[in-house]
Parts: sequence; structure tokens; C-alpha cells
Amino acid sequence: MLHLGIKTRLVRLARQIKGRLVDTGLHSENFWANRTEIEGEQFAKGYWDSRKLPLRTYVADAILGIPGVHDVLEVGCSAGPNVATIASRSKDLRIVGIDFDKDAVAFGNRLLKESHLENARLEHATADRLPFENASFDLVLTCAVLSCIGPQKILGTLQEMKRVSRRGFVLFEPHRTGPDFLGAKGKTEHYPNTTYWLRDYQRLITEELKLPHVRFTEIQIPPEHRVGHSQSGLIVLF
Ligand SMILES: C[S@@+](CC[C@H](N)C(=O)[O-])C[C@H]1O[C@@H](n2cnc3c(N)ncnc32)[C@H](O)[C@@H]1O
Repeated sequence: MLHLGIKTRLVRLARQIKGRLVDTGLHSENFWANRTEIEGEQFAKGYWDSRKLPLRTYVADAILGIPGVHDVLEVGCSAGPNVATIASRSKDLRIVGIDFDKDAVAFGNRLLKESHLENARLEHATADRLPFENASFDLVLTCAVLSCIGPQKILGTLQEMKRVSRRGFVLFEPHRTGPDFLGAKGKTEHYPNTTYWLRDYQRLITEELKLPHVRFTEIQIPPEHRVGHSQSGLIVLF
């Protein structure tokens, strides 16, 4: 009996530790950071090939529809499907992508070069430590990336995005409103190997990032063009 009691307690403890990791986002970082190394180049190629998805047109339209944009940073770009789409539509615009999956970045840089997209490049970096000077870019873009970042780092990531941006953000993230979605913690959606966080970004930006006067514009994506967690967009201008 005593033995069973200890076993039960150990199982509970293991669940608690797992729950902690799930909540902080550490397991999500571990899942994404070496994805291409673990799964092979096909993984990065899948992202590169997703340039053909209608979703990319909505992302590019949102960025290019804002007048006077000269440079853009995409945080969590993978192999660069958004970066390539935007760079090919506007040769005057400089676009940089960062991702902490270094093999996806290397793969994407090779294909950007082969595609002669000299106005685009990818760098290996982490969202909450962006290797750029203050106000380096007009806009910072994310697409299904903040949803991969847990409560421990979400505010730090948004602060970094704010620091390097002159004019605002374009976010294609699962966005939820309502009392269950108040803070940085968000609500979690568990998948077999990782977790996605659903949040109210308008509230997060105005109240927790302390930017009460920003202007928000929502971009609707029709159901047939939605992909996974990318279901709508939000333009945030400071
Ligand atoms: C669901 S994928 C989306 C990729 C791309 N934005 C797109 O629209 O296809 C999430 C990406 O975010 C990256 N990512 C997640 N957390 C990150 C972090 N803390 N720093 C940098 N990249 C991160 C992952 O490596 C992955 O490439």
C-alpha cells in the first residue's frame, strides 16, 4: 500500500512538473528550436513551399497596404515564406526574418539567394532577444509565432518587438477576446507534442505592454483561406 502511495505521489509530481513546463512554454521552445535538424530539410521545405498558400497574400497585402513602409522584420519566419512573398512583391522594401530554428534559416537563405531576392535575408535569433538597434524597422510581423511562445516570454517578446519597431506590428495570430483571454497567459491548446497559446492581443498590447493609444485594424480571412492557427490579422499602429 505504502509502495502504491509513493507511486501515486510520484505520478502526481511528474504531472505537476509537466504542467509547469507546459505553462512556461519551455517544452514549446524545445519542440520548435531544432525542428529542421530533427525532421530534416523536408520540414523547412514545407514552409518554403507554403509561399503558394492564399494566406501569404493576406499577409503581404497587410504589410504593403500601409503607406511609406521601407523595412520590415518578421519574427519567427521559419524558412521565410512570408519574407519571400513580400520581398518578391516589393523590391524597394528591405525585409529581414529571424527564427531560432537555425537549419530552417540556412535553408531559407539559400533559396532566397537562388530566387535573387537580394532585398531579403534571414538571421538565426530568438524572439525575446532581437539582435537589432532600437527603431530599426518600420514594422514587425508575426504569423503563427506568438501562439508558440509561453507566458514566461510573451511580454518580453512584445517589448523587444516594440523596441525595434518605429511604427507598429502586423500580427497574424490566433486572437481571442473575452474574460478567459485577459493576460499574457492566454488559453492553451494542447497538441500531442506542443502547445499553442490563444490570447487577446488588443488587451495585452494596451494594458500589459502599456500602449493605450495604438490603433488596431482587423483583417478577416475567409474560412477557406485560413490555415491552422492563422485565422485573421491585426494591424497595430503606434
Ligand atoms: C508555426 S511556425 C510559423 C512560421 C512562419 N511564420 C509562417 O508563417 O509559416 C512558428 C515558427 O516560429 C518559430 N519560433 C517559435 N518560437 C520562437 C522564438 N522564441 N524565437 C524565434 N523563433 C521562434 C519556430 O521555430 C517556427 O519556425
